[in-house]
Amino acid sequence: MNYKIALIPGDGIGPEVVAETVKVLDKIGEKYGHKFEYTKVLAGGCAIDETGGCLPQETIDICKASGAVLLGAVGGWQWDTLPGDQRPERALLGLRKELGLFANLRPALLFDELADACPLKPEIVEGGLDLVVVRELTGGIYFGEKGFKDTDLGPAAYDIEQYAEEEVRRIAIVAFDMAMKRNKKVTSVDKANVLESSRLWRRIVAEVSVDYPEVTLDNLYIDNATMQMVRNPKQFDVIVTSNIFGDILSDEASMITGSIGMLPSASLAKGNFGMYEPVHGSAPDIAGQNKANPMATILSAAMMLRYTFGLSAEADDIETAVKKVLADGYRTPDLYTEGTKAVGTKEAGDLVTAV
Ligand code: NAI
Ligand code: MG
Repeated sequence: MNYKIALIPGDGIGPEVVAETVKVLDKIGEKYGHKFEYTKVLAGGCAIDETGGCLPQETIDICKASGAVLLGAVGGWQWDTLPGDQRPERALLGLRKELGLFANLRPALLFDELADACPLKPEIVEGGLDLVVVRELTGGIYFGEKGFKDTDLGPAAYDIEQYAEEEVRRIAIVAFDMAMKRNKKVTSVDKANVLESSRLWRRIVAEVSVDYPEVTLDNLYIDNATMQMVRNPKQFDVIVTSNIFGDILSDEASMITGSIGMLPSASLAKGNFGMYEPVHGSAPDIAGQNKANPMATILSAAMMLRYTFGLSAEADDIETAVKKVLADGYRTPDLYTEGTKAVGTKEAGDLVTAV
C-alpha cells in the first residue's frame, strides 16, 4: 500500500535526524511491500528565512492532505531575538491548532541497555520501565481566557483553566483505547480536591471507563503523582491528564529514562491522523556535526506506523532494531560511556537500517 507522509525536517539537527528516519522507513517499506511517499515542507526558522513566516499555508495544506506528519525540530539561536509571536517555535502551536492535535502521547521507555543512564536507584527501575503519558494538548489553562485586572493587592494577571466535557471525553477515550493495547491500566491525574475543572475531569473519565470494564482506573492528585513518579514509576502504565499537568509530568517521566535523544512523541487528532516528533529540540549546539542521536525520531516513526497506519509488525521491527543496535553497544555521543562503541548520526541510522 501507499502511505503519504508530510516531512518537516525544520532546523538545527532536525534535517539530520529526519534523513536517518527516512532511510529506516524506506527499508521497512521494502521489506513489507509498502511505499512511503514523502512531501518535504517548511516550518520554523527555515520557513521564516525563505517565506517570512514560520508556518506557510502550503505546509498546513500539505500536512492536511497527508496521512501523517513527521517533524524534526524547529528553532535556533539566529531567530532567538525575534518577538515571541514571530519565533520559529510558534509553528508548533500553529500545527497543533490547525491539525486539531488534541492528544499528546509521550512514552517513557527505559531500555535495559541504557539502565545506567537512569538517575533513579537501580532497584526502583529493575526490570525496565515502560509508561506513556497521554496529555490533553489543545485545552485547559494554556488556551483559556487570559488577561490583566486590578485587585485589592494591586495589578494582577490571570489565566483560566477550563475544560468542556467533550474535551475530557475524547482524551479519556484515547487513553483507554491505548490501555486496551497495553496493560489495561489507566491512572488519571488531576487536582480534584481543589479545582472544579478537575472534578469535571474525574467525573467524565469515570464515565468513559464504564465502556472499558477490563481496564483498571486509578485517580491521583498531581502533587502525589509527581512524587510517585520518582518513588515508584513502575506502578504506572497509561497516565491521562490535562495540558498543564501533562506538560510537567511528561518531562519528569522522560528524565527517568536518562536521555532526551531517545524519546519519541505523537500528537493525535480525530481519526488516525497524527504528527510525530522527537521530544528534543533543534540542538543548535551540535547541529551539522553528525553528533545527534536519531533514535528519538526513528522511534517516533515507529509510533506513526503503529497509531496512524496500523502497521504494528512494522513498528515492532523498528523498535527491535533500535534495541539491537544499543545492545550491540553502539552509542551516539549523548549516550557514550567507556567501553561502548562511538558512532555518529549517520552510522546510527545505517546500523538501525541494517538490522
Ligand atoms: P534541545 O532539546 O534542542 O537541546 C537540549 C540539550 O540536549 C542540548 O545540549 C542538545 O545538544 C541535547 N540534545 C537534544 N537532542 C539531542 C539528540 N537528538 N542527540 C543528542 N543530543 C541532543 O533543547 P534546547 O537547547 O532548550 O532548545 C534548542 C532549540 O530547540 C530552541 O530554539 C528551542 O526553542 C527549540 N525546541 C524545539 C522543540 C521542537 O521543535 N519540538 C522542542 C524543544 C525545543
Ligand atoms: Mg514541556
